[in-house]
Amino acid sequence: MTISMRADRVVVLTGAGLSAESGLGTFRDKDGLWTRYDLNEVATPEGFARNPALVHEFYNARRANCLEARPNPAHEALARLQRAMPDRVTLVTQNVDDLLERAGAVEVIHMHGELTRALCAACGHRWDATRVMEVAAPCPDCERPATRPDIVWFGEMPYHMERIEAALRDADLFVAIGTSGNVYPAAGFVQEAAFAGAETLELNLEPSATVSLFDAARFGPASVVVPDWVAEVLG
Ligand code: OAD
Repeated sequence: MTISMRADRVVVLTGAGLSAESGLGTFRDKDGLWTRYDLNEVATPEGFARNPALVHEFYNARRANCLEARPNPAHEALARLQRAMPDRVTLVTQNVDDLLERAGAVEVIHMHGELTRALCAACGHRWDATRVMEVAAPCPDCERPATRPDIVWFGEMPYHMERIEAALRDADLFVAIGTSGNVYPAAGFVQEAAFAGAETLELNLEPSATVSLFDAARFGPASVVVPDWVAEVLG
């Protein structure tokens, strides 16, 4: 099936593959972060309760990598698409980096949280993260020493789900970029969008676990396939 390039409302879901060429590691590829770290120790509330210093060390390293990284042509193309189609493009990302924003995108929905934000595990207050975070830093609101990264861990509810589901219901094109289709609920968005009547397109380096659920797919590095697709949409 070919995909119409004249969508009125587009929802884009991005994953780690979008930022791979900016030098940020993916999770499940060869040498991915989850081949080098135990996700139960660094990306769960239980891991944080056991060893908060280890968890902060992991995310402090991610934050340092992110500060050194630059947006790549795929981030820039998505920001261009959003500018060219005001109020018609919803950008949802599983990524905790801010490379889409640094490429000029606005209102990016960070469903798995953001490295640039801190969250008080005691009272739920949020604030801008320091470059290096530690659990003992007192919360600016309740002053308790329970600082954690504002990242959604395994076993926690992703953020902004109502907003995302509303956008999926309204979409007539859903595009997933650089995500392996292993983590729900994001991996289920293709079915929600298709059920609501949207066409669906995967852009990835290689087929994801859910590729068969998409109407069409294109394979290649994000820095190539994303600008090509955006150029087609914008004609
Ligand atoms: P994964 O590491 O699971 O998948 C990365 C995807 O990007 C794979 O499908 C690769 O083929 C693709 N890829 C790699 N390099 C690429 C490139 N240059 N261009 C295009 N695609 C490329 O990452 P995600 O699917 O984003 O959650 O992972 C989802 C969630 O699992 C993450 O948000 C994170 C992780 O555990 C949490 O930490 C809660």
